[in-house]
Amino acid sequence: MNRAGTGDEQRVIAEQVAYYRARAPEYDDWFFRRGEYDHGAEWNRRWRTEVEELRRALDAARPAGRVLELACGTGLWTERLAPHATELTCVDASPEVIALNRKRVGAEHVDYVCADLFTWQPPRRYDFVFFGFWLSHVPAGAFIPFWSMVARALVPGGRVFFADSRNHPASREGGYADWAPETAPARSRRRLRDGREFEIVKIFYSPEELEAQLRSLGWRVVVRGTPTFFLHGLAMRDEPAPGLRESAP
Ligand SMILES: C[S@@+](CC[C@H](N)C(=O)[O-])C[C@H]1O[C@@H](n2cnc3c(N)ncnc32)[C@H](O)[C@@H]1O
Repeated sequence: MNRAGTGDEQRVIAEQVAYYRARAPEYDDWFFRRGEYDHGAEWNRRWRTEVEELRRALDAARPAGRVLELACGTGLWTERLAPHATELTCVDASPEVIALNRKRVGAEHVDYVCADLFTWQPPRRYDFVFFGFWLSHVPAGAFIPFWSMVARALVPGGRVFFADSRNHPASREGGYADWAPETAPARSRRRLRDGREFEIVKIFYSPEELEAQLRSLGWRVVVRGTPTFFLHGLAMRDEPAPGLRESAP
């Protein structure tokens, strides 16, 4: 069982699912810096440059074979993974984002599973596991169970690549009703355009602390930050496959 610990975490996990379900039609505006996420030409240019850096790092991690994407969302990363995969399984708790993902990617070798990642168990093993902008939404009490599930999802020598936000003001996803990192560092209040508000988990890691935490759990891992907005990591349990150096990505 991959279930997070406290009752409060359970409540926030449910609220977080409700939030992303309701946000589905607005979600891509964050990634493409539209509307309230448009912080001006210079920040937008930096954002796009760093998104390109993430894409290059993902390509350098060589996604291939049977690929698993966790918290796939509307398909912003699914469409990058699909051409490299022989089979791609995408898991997300929101039927709304899955519908958008299917529309965006629409490939026969891509399967979708609508499930809660805090209870879902991989039915088989995969060569490559990817999650984008998901780890920051995993509550502290679910961090170890989540990574155990990821380990169980991997073939020996399989690779995990992840990307996430760094704690820079311009990287925050906007629409906050309130932002109080000093008092509630692991939580964020989000507001949708229709005014509805939700409390979600948002944990910002530094590349160094995340790397140390994962190494203590037995991962061979390298986590790097982009200059402002993002971090990305490549992790594996076993000896690297021939030709795969630990210096990547
Ligand atoms: C920040 S979005 C990231 C989406 C996508 N990976 C991307 O980078 O564009 C987080 C995703 O996690 C999904 N999610 C939230 N809680 C979940 C849960 N308990 N189990 C599975 N998916 C969940 C949401 O529906 C949403 O699609």
